[in-house]
Amino acid sequence: MVLQLMFSFFKKSVSESSSEQKIVVTEDYTDVSPIAQYFKNETGVTFDKQTTILKSKVTTFCRQMAISSFKELLNSIKDDKKLKQQLVDSLTTNETFFYREFKQIEELVGLVKNANTKVDILCAPSATGEEPYSIVIALLEAGVSQNNFHVTGIDINSDAIEKANKAIYRERNVRNLSPRIIDIYFTKDNGSYVLKEMIKQHVTFKLMNLFDPSFKSIGKFDFIFSRNMLIYFDQETKLKAKEILESMRKNQNQEIFFGHADLF
Ligand SMILES: C[S@@+](CC[C@H](N)C(=O)[O-])C[C@H]1O[C@@H](n2cnc3c(N)ncnc32)[C@H](O)[C@@H]1O
Repeated sequence: MVLQLMFSFFKKSVSESSSEQKIVVTEDYTDVSPIAQYFKNETGVTFDKQTTILKSKVTTFCRQMAISSFKELLNSIKDDKKLKQQLVDSLTTNETFFYREFKQIEELVGLVKNANTKVDILCAPSATGEEPYSIVIALLEAGVSQNNFHVTGIDINSDAIEKANKAIYRERNVRNLSPRIIDIYFTKDNGSYVLKEMIKQHVTFKLMNLFDPSFKSIGKFDFIFSRNMLIYFDQETKLKAKEILESMRKNQNQEIFFGHADLF
């Protein structure tokens, strides 16, 4: 069977030469704004100033999933949870690395050392795990007893959570770590850096959306990190996120650790 593909700007025709049967699929990837609005309502992430980037990413996503228009995508993600998750995974940015903005981690270490009880720490978002694992390494390096803390990491991106649980990293992820720390806490395997169980056991990861009502039910925390997520939100959404995170503090006077770029 010979398949003939004929592309025009918005139209793709597939003809089966033997039977003269023609399937015409009309592609319509023009107005991405309903997708942008839906995505912002669901995740908080705005593409207001990056419509061209969003359009290109969503067009690629639609073609991969054999979805012929943004309208069809919008209808499908409302009922199809798996597809919605795949869209979220393809549109969120998970770039992170060990010991990022380390001064704040040092500050946290000081606070944990002064606490007399076991502390619960939240990283929302955790992305691929480097931030919560950095916290564990720094606490152990400072001599904090391993029974005195637990870290919870949450993220909306399922690929990121999967990578976080695996905890296998590339050189660029560990670039801020000293050779000594790498030797103690990682095993090298074919150019990869495999984090040891002694660190992994102190972190629990959950696939969660900060704006989902279920998020608040994961508990209250002594210390909360929320770094480099608010940069993807508009002002109103940043304040909403801040309010949610503040409501999850055990101590209302404890400041939340935001990233330096997360300006309000
Ligand atoms: C750049 S990473 C930040 C990781 C780490 N905190 C750091 O500072 O290196 C931003 C993360 O925010 C996550 N994210 C975006 N919107 C979210 C939401 N509504 N709920 C949970 N995570 C979200 C993304 O999936 C992404 O992994």
